[in-house]
Amino acid sequence: MKIDIITLFPTMFNGPLTESLLNKASKKKIITINLIDIRLFAKNNKVDDRPFGGGSGMVIKPEPLYDAIKSTGVIRKNIYYKNNYNKPYVIYMSPQGNVLNNQIICNLLKFKHLVIICGHYEGIDERILNYVDKEISIGDYVLTGGEIPAMVLIDSVVRMLPGVINPESVRNDSFYNKSLDFPHYTRPYMFKSHKVPKVLLSGNHKKIQQWRLNQAYIRTKKRRPDLLK
Ligand SMILES: C[S@@+](CC[C@H](N)C(=O)[O-])C[C@H]1O[C@@H](n2cnc3c(N)ncnc32)[C@H](O)[C@@H]1O
Repeated sequence: MKIDIITLFPTMFNGPLTESLLNKASKKKIITINLIDIRLFAKNNKVDDRPFGGGSGMVIKPEPLYDAIKSTGVIRKNIYYKNNYNKPYVIYMSPQGNVLNNQIICNLLKFKHLVIICGHYEGIDERILNYVDKEISIGDYVLTGGEIPAMVLIDSVVRMLPGVINPESVRNDSFYNKSLDFPHYTRPYMFKSHKVPKVLLSGNHKKIQQWRLNQAYIRTKKRRPDLLK
């Protein structure tokens, strides 16, 4: 999967992209990440301007953002393609978008090329939404910029791509089967005064599987009954 990130702050991605699973996925060529600096497309380094109608804050100008999107190959000869998994899929990280969940992530896995726009200030000029396929929020709160939301989105998508982590881990993860994950324990058997449940030491795989399924159900019912509906 190719992922283009359009941002005013490309260096913010240095840490997350060069550590852990994202680094591993890049090295294995499962993903190719390309950071696109909006400033490179701005005249006189001007990427933002005051809002029409007055008011506080600045807005990211449409021209440099349009040119940055165009540089990814999304907009060709004024033809804009929608809902074709072979075409680049343009996402704007926005608190006003659909709140990210497992269903959205699974749908994004079908695309070969994602283009992710990170806003800043009061956001981006509204007319850019004509070139956006989906607005995605990471929750009902407002962050300073779209960079951290983009990192959340990328991590959540990439870990589910084939070859990144063990498929069994993905299948057991919370939300995959509309339930929460079961509890996990490791050595030592006794930690402070807390023991590991005996069934996990029994060696009886059928019993262990049943116990885990039951635990996942109990905690889902208690913590997230909405998932069981
Ligand atoms: C300060 S916010 C702008 C908020 C905007 N004025 C509003 O209230 O909808 C600047 C940028 O941060 C990003 N952002 C902030 N909160 C977000 C969230 N919950 N999910 C995704 N992106 C977010 C967006 O890219 C946004 O353009």
